[in-house]
Amino acid sequence: HHARIALQPSAAIGAVDPRLYGSFIEHLGRAVYDGIYEPGHPAADADGFRTDVIELVKELGVTTVRYPGGNFVSGFRWEDSVGPREQRPKRLDLAWHSTETNEVGLHEFQTWLDKVGSELMLAVNLGTRGVSEALDLLEYTNHRGGSAFSDQRIANGRTEPFDVRMWCLGNEMDGPWQLGHSSAEEYGRLAAKTAQAMKMYDPDLQLVVCGSSSSSMPTFGEWERVTLSHTYDDVEFISCHAYYENKGDLGSFLASGVDMDYFIRSVVATADSVKAVRGSSKTINISFDEWNIWYNTRFETVDRITGTDNWPVAPRLLEDTYTVSDAVVFGSLLITLLKHADRVTSASLAQLVNVIAPIMTEPGGPAWKQTTFFPFAATSAHGRGTALAVDVTSGSYDTERFGAVPLVDAVATHDEAAGRYALYAVNRSIDEPTELVVDLAALGADAASLTVTASALSDPDPDAANTRENPDRVAPRELAVRREGSLLHVELPAISWTEI
Ligand code: AHR
Repeated sequence: HHARIALQPSAAIGAVDPRLYGSFIEHLGRAVYDGIYEPGHPAADADGFRTDVIELVKELGVTTVRYPGGNFVSGFRWEDSVGPREQRPKRLDLAWHSTETNEVGLHEFQTWLDKVGSELMLAVNLGTRGVSEALDLLEYTNHRGGSAFSDQRIANGRTEPFDVRMWCLGNEMDGPWQLGHSSAEEYGRLAAKTAQAMKMYDPDLQLVVCGSSSSSMPTFGEWERVTLSHTYDDVEFISCHAYYENKGDLGSFLASGVDMDYFIRSVVATADSVKAVRGSSKTINISFDEWNIWYNTRFETVDRITGTDNWPVAPRLLEDTYTVSDAVVFGSLLITLLKHADRVTSASLAQLVNVIAPIMTEPGGPAWKQTTFFPFAATSAHGRGTALAVDVTSGSYDTERFGAVPLVDAVATHDEAAGRYALYAVNRSIDEPTELVVDLAALGADAASLTVTASALSDPDPDAANTRENPDRVAPRELAVRREGSLLHVELPAISWTEI
């Protein structure tokens, strides 16, 4: 196959918000316990956090971390997770059919975030709770002192407020699996009341109203329209969540970005239509605060815990092993997010450690990188500045799910401060490389002075993965770049994700 891309510095989509490179830690499975936190581990620090995991999270380049859920948050009482540890209650977590010990809570998590250098994005429970508890938590985290909850925080050891800037108004309230699942009407009203109350304390908070749990929810579209009709004036973001898995149709799976693109365009159109109807001058952006590859079918059929006498602590849940083709799709999802950098100004890779995660750990043992670690780390490190739309000419292939899909998808970024362009490209061909020509003519004289490197994630075995036994099996490798005047020639391997 052949493809051609013209890099145009003037084709700006928008500034890449650093929050696009966020992630997510939920009290679910071994994300917290035996994941980031394992006091008995040889690499644990004085607070019980694994320093090997901290180093990997830093290398991954995670800017924000959404916490503490996810489905978990819809039954969570935040008060359980603060104060003297020995007094914290054990609770049943109905979302994941587990026991939550509350050994790690808000203070401990913030301590961990300070070590990894990421910002907290906090979710309030609008499943089993409401306005009052959200306000209590806000006072606890953000008020300086001199009130009941802020003084409680100070007594619990944190003089300075957490000063959380970004808040999620519940989680996936459109999902029948959610504790407190509501209609768009019910949830929209509750979210509006909660948002208005929170903004009476601080009008500068950034609030995220729940959008749809996937573009295939039966309420998709109407959910966004109704919830935004209630909350438009009081929130800054609407969320999108999307997970993809290979259900035995690799061609459609490789084209997952097509669905993500449709999802984003539809939510933008809906938000802008509510804006027009209201005659508002304000624009609502997207917080794509859960996205990843997730073998949800395996969870539903194998992992799911049941039984009224069976509530394990930190069970192995959602511990998917990611292959090279998973990582290629994952990289293409990052490309899709960047292509919408003007409207997707926050995103969270769900999740971060052990639970559908780029980082895996064994208790008492090693931590290692999954295949998906590499596209995220590279894009977060270099995909900064301004996102640039690129003109791609390539062939297409037929998919069962999406019809004809371009073989190559791509986006670029220009980081003026760093003097760097980054081009991200995915080759969806299952069996053939693509000869890619990148035209830098629009860069003028600058083109000649650029140092060019290319690195790809691909493998003769697209099912190859990193595992505990073989943690270094997959890593990106350099691709040869041939230069010819202002043209670059690169051969993109079959099923590959490439950074140039
Ligand atoms: O990330 C796993 C789960 O996926 C989250 O708890 C939930 O919000 C979504 O359904």
